[in-house]
Amino acid sequence: MSALFPKWFNAFPTLAAVGAGGTLMAAIAGFWYYATPAFWAVGYQPIQPVEAFSHQIHAGRLGMDCRYCHTKVEVSAEANIPNVATCYGCHAEKRLAAWQTQRVSLVRQAYATNESIEWRRVNKLPDYVRNFPHHAHIAAGVSCYSCHGQITAMPVVHQVAPLSMSWCLDCHRNPESSLVPKDRVTQLVWVEQFLTNRANGTPAQPTPGDVVHSLERQPPQGCGACHY
Ligand code: HEC
Ligand code: HEC
Ligand code: HEC
Ligand code: HEC
Ligand code: HEC
Repeated sequence: MSALFPKWFNAFPTLAAVGAGGTLMAAIAGFWYYATPAFWAVGYQPIQPVEAFSHQIHAGRLGMDCRYCHTKVEVSAEANIPNVATCYGCHAEKRLAAWQTQRVSLVRQAYATNESIEWRRVNKLPDYVRNFPHHAHIAAGVSCYSCHGQITAMPVVHQVAPLSMSWCLDCHRNPESSLVPKDRVTQLVWVEQFLTNRANGTPAQPTPGDVVHSLERQPPQGCGACHY
């Protein structure tokens, strides 16, 4: 027996346990690190049910204003997702070219059966963050571009900002550099140019009539403003 298992082997179970434990810890630590929202959420781009509902086509090429579909974004905390009737207004039978029939069939089918399309949520805050107030930000002159990126160039929407607490607070401590003329908040191409110029120190050029206002009150930093 002693020939089969040398004395040092008595330590083997302990070593094995320590080794396995270490590997497990490393795996957990790694997962924790990469699984935090800052790592996996940016770029999050779920597959959407209507293939190729494209912001690039609708908001970009066709130039539709965000508020045509996200009608409540200025007046409520939540930016609503449009219902099928909004789409059907343009995609009813015989309205647009015949070649589209195939591509928009899901819209027509949903409308005919009075069902809603199950869009997959892209941007989502954890529940312990109180509902994020879209209207307050729009009214203050913060553009969709600052938080959602250049939507007008996205065939499929993906998450652009980490939505972490430090991301919120970084802007709340220094909001001025994100403010744009209030009537431009949904003009994302204009806004991108404007903010890029400002960041580069090139004089940002609001056209005559644009007012770059200052805030009446500082954005909140107290815990209760964002948490229950
Ligand atoms: C023709 C209607 C329409 C227009 C115009 C439109 N959207 Fe959308 N938007 C949708 C639909 C439908 C969805 C849900 C499907 C998806 O995510 O692509 C959506 C989703 C989004 C999302 C992701 C929501 C989430 O789950 O996190 C953002 C952000 C967004 N839109 C911003 C914008 C902005 C900014 C504009 C203006 C530049 C705009 N949209 C214009 C219809 C529209
Ligand atoms: C204001 C009119 C209008 C509204 C509202 C509208 N669309 Fe469209 N949509 C168009 C037009 C015009 C095209 C064709 C664009 C082109 O390719 O020239 C189109 C194209 C499409 C296509 C085909 C895209 C492709 O890749 O060929 C899909 C799918 C689509 N729309 C889905 C939707 C959905 C879903 C909604 C509602 C959230 C919606 N549309 C709302 C006008 C509209
Ligand atoms: C200051 C940052 C910020 C600005 C500005 C902003 N959003 Fe958002 N948006 C968010 C956050 C954060 C969420 C996730 C909210 C949540 O989970 O409660 C979100 C979610 C959304 C959603 C998904 C809502 C849902 O219920 O599925 C849409 C659509 C949207 N935003 C559209 C817009 C549009 C359009 C604009 C510009 C008119 C805009 N947002 C401006 C930060 C912003
Ligand atoms: C790009 C800049 C920016 C980002 C990012 C941002 N905010 Fe704000 N936020 C503002 C500004 C500017 C105001 C001031 C609005 C006012 O009261 O005039 C504000 C105000 C608020 C208010 C107070 C609204 C009211 O009616 O008093 C809340 C709550 C808030 N933000 C939550 C958030 C949360 C949560 C996030 C992150 C998920 C966030 N904000 C990200 C710029 C930003
Ligand atoms: C401007 C909005 C805002 C303010 C102010 C704010 N938070 Fe947060 N907080 C957030 C958001 C958004 C998250 C979610 C972050 C995420 O999902 O990674 C968060 C997450 C947290 C978490 C969970 C952290 C984690 O990693 O799980 C704690 C704890 C927390 N906040 C405590 C506080 C305390 C304490 C204060 C006051 C000193 C405070 N927060 C102020 C927006 C805010």
